[in-house]
Amino acid sequence: MISNNIPFAIDALIKGELVAIPTETVYGLAGNALNEQVVSKIFQLKNRPTCNPLILHTHSIDEVLKYVQHMPPMALKLAEVFWPGPLTLLLPKKPNILHSVTSGSHLVAVRIPNHPLTLSLLRQLDFPLVAPSANPYTRISPTNAKMVDDYFGDDLSIILDGGTCTKGIESTIVGFHDDAPIIYRQGAISVDAIEFIAGKSKVQATIKDRVTTPGMSPMHYAPKTKFLIVENIQHFLTEHPDLKIGVIAFGDSLVTQSKTEVFNLSKNKDLEEASSNLYKSMYDLDKQNLDCIIIESFPEISLGKSLNDRIRRASFR
Ligand code: TXA
Ligand code: MG
Repeated sequence: MISNNIPFAIDALIKGELVAIPTETVYGLAGNALNEQVVSKIFQLKNRPTCNPLILHTHSIDEVLKYVQHMPPMALKLAEVFWPGPLTLLLPKKPNILHSVTSGSHLVAVRIPNHPLTLSLLRQLDFPLVAPSANPYTRISPTNAKMVDDYFGDDLSIILDGGTCTKGIESTIVGFHDDAPIIYRQGAISVDAIEFIAGKSKVQATIKDRVTTPGMSPMHYAPKTKFLIVENIQHFLTEHPDLKIGVIAFGDSLVTQSKTEVFNLSKNKDLEEASSNLYKSMYDLDKQNLDCIIIESFPEISLGKSLNDRIRRASFR
């Protein structure tokens, strides 16, 4: 059921059921983080390997401190700037966090999402929520309630409808080494924005190590249709007149043929707008029985870097 009835969602969560929740990044498949059976239900429903840990969602830094040993000064600084918001911090867990949530790691991923419905929900619960993106493993993350309903409608007592996710790609995951931030997953907060707060040299040095989290296998966020990053969309269309092609455009108007389906992410070449539309464009075009979906790389600046990360993963076969 798609609804915005918070009391109903609270009731379901207290009973140990799963609820889809809106966040500013993507919808989450949420359940009581402190309940072993609930955590295992989430892995099963998503068909997700248990070695891929979950993010803890809560509503305040005081709440976070109930579940982590401590926050290094830099973590606190980033949290104060970006929370509530699309920043996930990797911090040493307290024993009250289940091993199944962290897949055995001593670090737990935590974030305070910035969505009024979900913040209100979290404030009324006396337990935190774990919430992976509400998609089956390796499928495209949902950015509206209808997408979640298509994936999991029958299995959820309620999908809390918070509209379309404003950011549209997942949170940026940051860990720490000697108080220096390490970017584990590029996301809705650009690396440039993290560098601006933390000091460029500090973050830069650690990103080069290309650390990845267990869930960051290349084959992720993928449409079923062949997904190609091309040098030039117009040339590709001209060279393949017989193919049914889905085009994900950014800015420029195109000369298309009759078999082409176009989804324009942002006519004004706005990276934020493109980010909020990217997954929906892949999802919609994926349903149209096309021979392939094509896209050009984004400018490799700010959010463009995160978007390029996502389309590279989507194009991996
Ligand atoms: O924006 C988001 O972060 C969304 C919304 C719903 O909050 N959630 C999300 O969750 O993207 P999920 O489960 O789809 O991705 C979580 C990522 C995975 O790549 C996982 O490996 C990593 O976070 N992760 C979680 N806990 C971790 C840990 N303890 N150590 C390292 N990586 C961790
Ligand atoms: Mg995910």
